[in-house]
Amino acid sequence: MEVLVLPTAADVARRAAGIVIAGLGAARRAEPVIGLATGSSPLGLYAELAAAVRAGSLDLDRARGFALDEYVGLPVGHPQSYREVLLREVCAPLGLPPDRLRVPDGSGRDEEALVAGATEYERLLAAAGGVDVQILGIGANGHLGFNEPGSALSSRTRVKRLSDRTRHDNARFFDGIEDVPTHCVTQGLGTVLDARRLVLVASGPGKASAVAAALEGPLSASCPASVLQWHADATVVLDEAAASGLRNRDYYDASAAGL
Ligand code: GLP
Repeated sequence: MEVLVLPTAADVARRAAGIVIAGLGAARRAEPVIGLATGSSPLGLYAELAAAVRAGSLDLDRARGFALDEYVGLPVGHPQSYREVLLREVCAPLGLPPDRLRVPDGSGRDEEALVAGATEYERLLAAAGGVDVQILGIGANGHLGFNEPGSALSSRTRVKRLSDRTRHDNARFFDGIEDVPTHCVTQGLGTVLDARRLVLVASGPGKASAVAAALEGPLSASCPASVLQWHADATVVLDEAAASGLRNRDYYDASAAGL
């Protein structure tokens, strides 16, 4: 695992974008697959990727995008459904054709339909050849995608209940907490681990304890993001505030400097 600590969130976005672009190039695939996270954390990174597209140094015309997760039960076209968020924040500005975006299906009317949708999502991922570069944020409780504390480390895409903490954290995107869905469909931790390269971004003091637990705590379902420790090609890009709980900072900085 590589840990890069940079002065500001803008630096994080720039550096992470460079890693994503390099990773997509290194995949050497005609139709590379980019794994897409939602939430506030990757927005700066997406803006940097959009700038690269405008500058001609990135072309996602032939790429495929796979989302990490989706809410269950939001009406089609709801502005906070992750499909709509990704159409807005990624497809339009980055020139990823909307028909090349895949998002887990949260529209199933009952458990059977949702489970069938989750199984189909895994099939689509495999058919696309897997994810080349997976962009990740981290929840304040250490969640990854919508894998809440307690998620099985080998889990696959499935229906899950959202924790109260996550619903409260995400209430800012809705009119109120009562409008935040109670369930989601999320890639499992095992699904995330199948991506060839992981790039996690975090900024701000609110993420410091989750980042410390994920990077330096035990590999544990209690902190789902700790599965990054198991991945052979994971890079974590942090600003100073998000890195403030790390104990091994000197080592990360020396490694990043090539020492
Ligand atoms: C959301 C998403 C996650 C994201 C996390 C952090 O609920 N499902 O994929 O990483 O929570 O969100 P933010 O970046 O807004 O803090």
